[in-house]
Amino acid sequence: MKKRDFVDTNDFTKAEIDYLIKLALKLKESIKNGYYPPILKNKTLGMIFEQSSTRTRVSFETAMTQLGGHAQYLAPGQIQLGGHETLGDTARVLSRLVDILMARVERHQTIVDLAKDATIPVINGMSDYNHPTQELGDIITMTEHLPAGKKLSDCKIVFVGDATQVCVSTMFMATKMGMDFVQFGPKGFQIKDETLAIGLKNAELSGGSVLVTENAEEAMKDADFIYTDVWYGLYEAELSEEERMATFYPKYQVNKSLIDMAAPHVKFLHCLPATRGEEVTDEVLDAPYSVVLDEAENRLTAMRALLVYFMTPYLNYASEAEACHYQGELDLLLRNKVVDA
Ligand code: CP
Repeated sequence: MKKRDFVDTNDFTKAEIDYLIKLALKLKESIKNGYYPPILKNKTLGMIFEQSSTRTRVSFETAMTQLGGHAQYLAPGQIQLGGHETLGDTARVLSRLVDILMARVERHQTIVDLAKDATIPVINGMSDYNHPTQELGDIITMTEHLPAGKKLSDCKIVFVGDATQVCVSTMFMATKMGMDFVQFGPKGFQIKDETLAIGLKNAELSGGSVLVTENAEEAMKDADFIYTDVWYGLYEAELSEEERMATFYPKYQVNKSLIDMAAPHVKFLHCLPATRGEEVTDEVLDAPYSVVLDEAENRLTAMRALLVYFMTPYLNYASEAEACHYQGELDLLLRNKVVDA
């Protein structure tokens, strides 16, 4: 059996993503109705974080608890990684100590290398390139908030602002699922050509489309979903407040005027955290058409499905006879305990 990791949704087919959405929604329904399936009983998730996180960290840990397992938070400075141990050694050692790994990393190559060296499944909790667990949570949210009479593949999603890793991930998922994807953002902050090529290839296969534009009317026309993310950029390349406002404000702020240019049933998404008053106004973020809290909750919905999906091939519990055998041998050893003192 070939080990599989969740580093990039582009490694998965539309049918696999459809299955993950179905599994996620069934697990959500089950838990909402009080049945917590103990599918991951006694299993442990190792969580490596090179960066801070609220939603990703908490949703992974809650998902493990709800499914009968446990998660260990491995923060910078608390493990040897980055200090006295190489990434490869950390990956190989953790593969013997936990059952599945997730990592939020500064550089995408780190998650690629971790997945290569680990012998257990590795899930990407965000890199400087993409954010696939966010993608899955978002497509689940859109599935729950589809306009009446429409399928995902009938919908148009517009990402407003900077081509962050969340923007790129939104394009990957939307184009996989046959949606029409638009980035409405300024030159210099648009999706790079080589990344855009992946979206275009996905769209060719799925029947979706990709457009990058600076024209608000063209972007917003008939939009079913509007999505935005922060303007401060990535890590060491973070923009100052002055630079952010000069680049994006007011044209790329999601405010009521922009929302009014979309379809009347439009829903607003944001991966959060949001900088209120910059990329989005309070009026939009707190509006009835804003689904940002459902989206945050669906990080948990997605994590449950991913953990179950990637762990299922490794769930080899002892039979009743084997359990009886080992319990007998252990009882014997414990009855004949050697104590010299
Ligand atoms: N959206 C997201 O990944 O949030 P955190 O950074 O809080 O995990």
